[in-house]
Amino acid sequence: MTFPTEKIRSDFPILKRKIGSKALVYLDNAASSQKPKQVIEAMDAFYQSSYANIHRGIYTIAEEATELYENARKSVARFLNAASESEIVFTRGTTEGINLVRFAWGRKNIEEGDEILLTEMEHHSNLVPWQLLAQEKGATLKFIPFDAQGRLQLDRLDSLLTPKTKLAACAFASNTFGTINPVEKIIAAAHAKGIPVLLDAAQAVPHFKIDLQKLDCDFLAFSSHKMLGPTGIGVLYGKKRHLEKMDPFLGGGEMIKKVEWDHATWNDIPWKFEAGTQSIAEAVGLHAAIQYLNHVELDKIFEHDQSLVRYCMERLPEIDGLTMYGPPAHERTGLIAFSIRDIHPHDIAAVLDRNGICVRAGHHCTQPLHRKLGLEATVRASFYLYNTKEEVDLLVDGLKDTVKLFRK
Ligand SMILES: Cc1ncc(COP(=O)(O)O)c(C=O)c1O
Repeated sequence: MTFPTEKIRSDFPILKRKIGSKALVYLDNAASSQKPKQVIEAMDAFYQSSYANIHRGIYTIAEEATELYENARKSVARFLNAASESEIVFTRGTTEGINLVRFAWGRKNIEEGDEILLTEMEHHSNLVPWQLLAQEKGATLKFIPFDAQGRLQLDRLDSLLTPKTKLAACAFASNTFGTINPVEKIIAAAHAKGIPVLLDAAQAVPHFKIDLQKLDCDFLAFSSHKMLGPTGIGVLYGKKRHLEKMDPFLGGGEMIKKVEWDHATWNDIPWKFEAGTQSIAEAVGLHAAIQYLNHVELDKIFEHDQSLVRYCMERLPEIDGLTMYGPPAHERTGLIAFSIRDIHPHDIAAVLDRNGICVRAGHHCTQPLHRKLGLEATVRASFYLYNTKEEVDLLVDGLKDTVKLFRK
């Protein structure tokens, strides 16, 4: 069966928009995805009929709101095949999830002289929190290097996991190269030495199926806004035995069991990590997004994204002076970063915008990676379930126009 792109596109109101006289071509999905009407309507209906704060009210709509919020948690647990919904902590997004681990796990478990193993392709969200922790504790960061194809050099892995390594934290899929990293190998090697593994799955969860019980990572963080859901909510998965031993992240309402003047005891997991009023409508939206992805089927979305990136990588060499970064299409999610000789990425993005095409230009929050490539910035096109081959053609046409404009 062919992928139902037209039907899918009709669910996304924003895709009817024009930029000037041009149809919107949205190719910045790795930054954030657009939202189907099913997500917008679910949040709207919640605000119109059941909105109240959760976990506190003994009245009908508060109970309804609580049930909707906790149902969202259950749907995330099922989506990822977590062993229990108590392992699913709602956060504001990937960044907050990683910082939660930094504060609530890292402060307790990392000491002076310890090492944290990262990769050279981490988003700043999975780098800066560990820099801050390392500075605070006197620990050291180590990095698995990437090669000329944007693949991790795993032959170094064993020697990089030392008796001092206390955590390995790694992008499941790179937001710049698109590389889907062999995280199973990293997890197996780290676990063989008793080292827990955190996965930054911001570019993974929206695009392919993850089975947490098979994967066996210790922590995994992602954001709803990159997977058709709203901003303001994300998920930190943590193995029960870790979450139970961890200190709270933020203190306040809802994360406590009993409070005295000078001390308090903590709520059970996952609520121990959910202080204050949570993003309730956003949880409802995330639930609707998961239902949408399940309906279309992630395996088919993955195939579709890969077919677009493959086609794009076939066509991009038609552009004079263009260099692509990262591995072959079959090793990546649906994104491609590239540069064009003597034309600044910002200029490329500005010309494309005049054609209604949205791409990302800049360092994509991977400055050290760009520096290693000898670049300040690249252009990134990233695809998702509503994108089409025709849109790839428009991108290529737009790039040809850009080159003409700057090379005359
Ligand atoms: C790999 C990766 N990690 C982390 C993040 C940060 O996500 P958020 O800004 O939603 O916290 C992103 C977002 O671009 C990303 O691509």
